[in-house]
Amino acid sequence: MHAGFRTLCDDIAREAGSFALAARRQLGPGARAAHATKSSAVDPVTEFDRATEAMVVDRLRRERPDDSIVGEEGANHRGTSGYEWHVDPIDGTVNFVYDLPGWCTSIAVLHAGQPVAGAVYAPVVDELYSAGIGQGATINGTAIHVSGSTELATSLAATGFSYHLDDHRAVQAARIARVLPTVRDIRRQGSAALDLAYVASGRVDLYFEEFVQSWDVAAGVLLVTEAGGTVTAFDGSDIAVTAPDGVVAATPALHAAVLNGVID
Ligand code: IPD
Ligand code: CA
Ligand code: CA
Repeated sequence: MHAGFRTLCDDIAREAGSFALAARRQLGPGARAAHATKSSAVDPVTEFDRATEAMVVDRLRRERPDDSIVGEEGANHRGTSGYEWHVDPIDGTVNFVYDLPGWCTSIAVLHAGQPVAGAVYAPVVDELYSAGIGQGATINGTAIHVSGSTELATSLAATGFSYHLDDHRAVQAARIARVLPTVRDIRRQGSAALDLAYVASGRVDLYFEEFVQSWDVAAGVLLVTEAGGTVTAFDGSDIAVTAPDGVVAATPALHAAVLNGVID
């Protein structure tokens, strides 16, 4: 079942990420990419976010004309097949704008609300994270697994912050103040999709973030579960990938401790 989707996700993520990287390289090292803003003054969008999404949508419309498509930059196509694509053309746009390496293309396809295949491609380091339901997760073709971490105190955590400065960031700042003394350290890499890919590959031990969207996490959630990790909403319930709100991803041994000590 769902045959061929993983290969298509991989291929599109690579193509889209490579396109965005070529555009980024044209700007030159350290040159700020011109951008407009979206939900708030700190939420940038570049012409390359839009062009990359357009490229992905064109291809999906050609190759999967009956599927639904939801994209961060406005794609919203209703299909009839029961398959739904969630696309973040550039996850980590702030990093893209500043020419920091932590950005990626994230693509997942869902069936009955569940991701069945997903890919996260980080073009600057040429790393393709890929997963198919029941098929495990890989990085450039090599199998990956979550870390063996069992203790919060020696765990490396990842998180991210919302673009809504007033309400959301105050909540997140209070949480960080609580978590920081309980873990080895915290990373704020700047891409939710990569944060989840890092949990899947053991590069960090846990990740939590509130106020995320489907396109940020759909591929990453599958990467983590296929790599042996546990992913839930902040209240410990199954994550609704199409309307995630919050996500908590960790090794199975750590997940309960994260919910109790970090999320409470
Ligand atoms: C953002 C990044 C960031 C996360 C934000 C997202 P964008 O996506 O994933 O790490 O903290 O919640 O909105 O805007 O770069 O695609
Ligand atoms: Ca995003
Ligand atoms: Ca984006």
